[in-house]
Amino acid sequence: MATHTLPPLPYDYNALEPWIDEQTMRLHHDKHHQTYCDNFVKAVTGTPFEAQDVNATLAQLDKVPENIRGAVRNHGGGFANHILFWEIMGPKAGGTPTGPLAEAISKAFGSFDAFREKFVAAAMGQFGSGWAWLVVKADGELAVYNLPNQDSPVSKGDTPILTLDVWEHAYYLKYQNRRAEYVGNFWNVVNWNKVAELYGKAKK
Ligand SMILES: [Fe+2]
Repeated sequence: MATHTLPPLPYDYNALEPWIDEQTMRLHHDKHHQTYCDNFVKAVTGTPFEAQDVNATLAQLDKVPENIRGAVRNHGGGFANHILFWEIMGPKAGGTPTGPLAEAISKAFGSFDAFREKFVAAAMGQFGSGWAWLVVKADGELAVYNLPNQDSPVSKGDTPILTLDVWEHAYYLKYQNRRAEYVGNFWNVVNWNKVAELYGKAKK
C-alpha cells in the first residue's frame, strides 16, 4: 500500500513563467520529485514509518533504523522539501509579506531588505546542492540558514516556512550556471500568503 503519494503541482506547470519555466517545472515535479517519493516509499515500506507523516519521520531520524536512515534522510527529505517548495510559490505572487510575519521579519533581521539579503546569501553560499531556509525555531524566533542535499530543518527541530531549492536541477535548463539570477527572480513567485499561514501555524 502506497501511503505516501506525490501531490499534484498546486498550479499549472507554466504558472511561474517567465521566472521558472514550464519545462523545468515538469521535470522537477514529475521526474525529480516523483523519484524522491518513490525511493522514500521503497525505504519505509514494511517499517513503522510507512504510515507516518514524512515530516514526523524526519523529525525523529535518530529513531529510524540505520539501514534505511540514509534513504529516509535523502529521499524523505527530497519528498517533503519539494512539497513545501511548490506550496510557497505561486502565480501572481511576489511583493512583500504583511501582518505578523512582516513584523517578525523586521524584528528578527532589521528590515525586509536585510532579511532578503541574508536569505540570498544563504542560497548563494550553499556550495553544491542544497536549500536556503527561513525557519521558525522552537522558541518562536525566525532564522535563515542553508542545508546541504535534502536535509530538512525539521530534523533540527525547526519549522520551515520558506525555502529555495538551489540544486542545479531547479534552474539549470533556464539559467545554466547563473544561480544568482535564479535566486533574484525567485522573489517574483513567493506566495507570502502561504508563508504567513505557515508562520501562524508554527507559532501556535
Ligand atoms: Fe529539487
